[in-house]
Amino acid sequence: MDSVKVGIAGLGTVGSGTVNVLKRNARDIARRVGRPIEITHIGARRDNPACDTQGIRLSRDIFAVATDPDIDILVELIGGIDTARELVLTAIKNGKHIVTANKALIAEHGNEIFQAAQDNGVDVAFEASVAGGIPILKSLGEGLAANHINWLAGIINGTGNFILTEMEEGGRDFNDVLAEAQQLGYAEADPTFDVEGIDAAHKLTILASIAFGIPLQFSQVYTEGISRITTEDVASAAHFGYRIKHLGIAKDTGKGIELRVHPTLVPKETMLSAVNGVMNAVMIHGDAVGPTMFYGAGAGAEPTASAVVADIIELGRALTVDHDERVPYLGFHTDHMSDEPILTIDDVSCCFYLRLHVQDKKGVLADVTRILSDNNVSIDAMIQREVDQGLVPIVMMTHEVREGDMNLALAKIGALDTVDSDIMRIRVETLDA
Ligand code: HSE
Repeated sequence: MDSVKVGIAGLGTVGSGTVNVLKRNARDIARRVGRPIEITHIGARRDNPACDTQGIRLSRDIFAVATDPDIDILVELIGGIDTARELVLTAIKNGKHIVTANKALIAEHGNEIFQAAQDNGVDVAFEASVAGGIPILKSLGEGLAANHINWLAGIINGTGNFILTEMEEGGRDFNDVLAEAQQLGYAEADPTFDVEGIDAAHKLTILASIAFGIPLQFSQVYTEGISRITTEDVASAAHFGYRIKHLGIAKDTGKGIELRVHPTLVPKETMLSAVNGVMNAVMIHGDAVGPTMFYGAGAGAEPTASAVVADIIELGRALTVDHDERVPYLGFHTDHMSDEPILTIDDVSCCFYLRLHVQDKKGVLADVTRILSDNNVSIDAMIQREVDQGLVPIVMMTHEVREGDMNLALAKIGALDTVDSDIMRIRVETLDA
């Protein structure tokens, strides 16, 4: 089957991330769509993108991509509003489906763009416009579709959260941290959008429309930024048991809908207060499901690309199969299922916590550690406690080891006359980000 042809406008942080993810995961993506996704045309002014564009047609004129008769999907990643709006409307008129990460464009011109798409029989997908890599729009519009949404509240600007976190944890100066966020590609082209809450207000506008079924109404959002927060405020809030977070809040009060973005004192023990750095999190309260929380990277090249590519895949599927098969039951197409074997637990590797009881005799510990070492188990840390009922409790943390090796070692240790055979072993998962 022919590939789905994709044109990309804009090759900055997110554009380059999108090219890299599409290329790196091309095989899995083709298995999910049912045919390959191919980037055939890129429009960009940038000369040195952070991705490999070999074999792809390059144009300086982004409108050449929007009107390219060979592409099925235009991915708009140029940011900004006026040119992006013109570009997207041009592509729609040329029968292209749209994927965009542009929250300002959707929040301010979404109503017009959706109408144009409907008139021209194409789709517009914009998962990446809110909370970067968190699939929050699909969760709200599909996974939670049974619910009446009571309220949602979220940290939806990564740059602002990065600044507040660094001010609190590192006592750093506001402008110094902002400069770092810009360098890391988190901040908007105009960073006042981040620090004055405009970016969060764009995202809240989109979330509220999908939560409550209301038109996009950016101008109605009460918006207050974080630029007046000082390290003293951060320290004083901590003294009272709070952290300062920049929240977007949308609430159905029964009398109307609250839409507000502002710095907020959040009790330290709540989950939202533990969301740090560039991470985003959105809590959604539905009448059936109760409270839910979605967490992940809210900005950055590949987290945002993750959402952009998911939208490309969704549109690719719609172009590939009958409508009733749009999302394959198991995510991958039935004729692209893998026969990769499932590993036995013996083949899993991890670090272990071990607790054993040994006799208080010379050489016992030496026997135990020799058996561990003979079976590739290396000890990271160890505690020996006081004798308890004639036996000495020993607790060890090991380095990573194959479980099969650990089982051999424990069988031999358990068989020693000097060791109680009731040995406790707990696997350690650091779940490192
Ligand atoms: N400037 C935005 C942020 C990028 O920091 O969250 C992602 O929308």
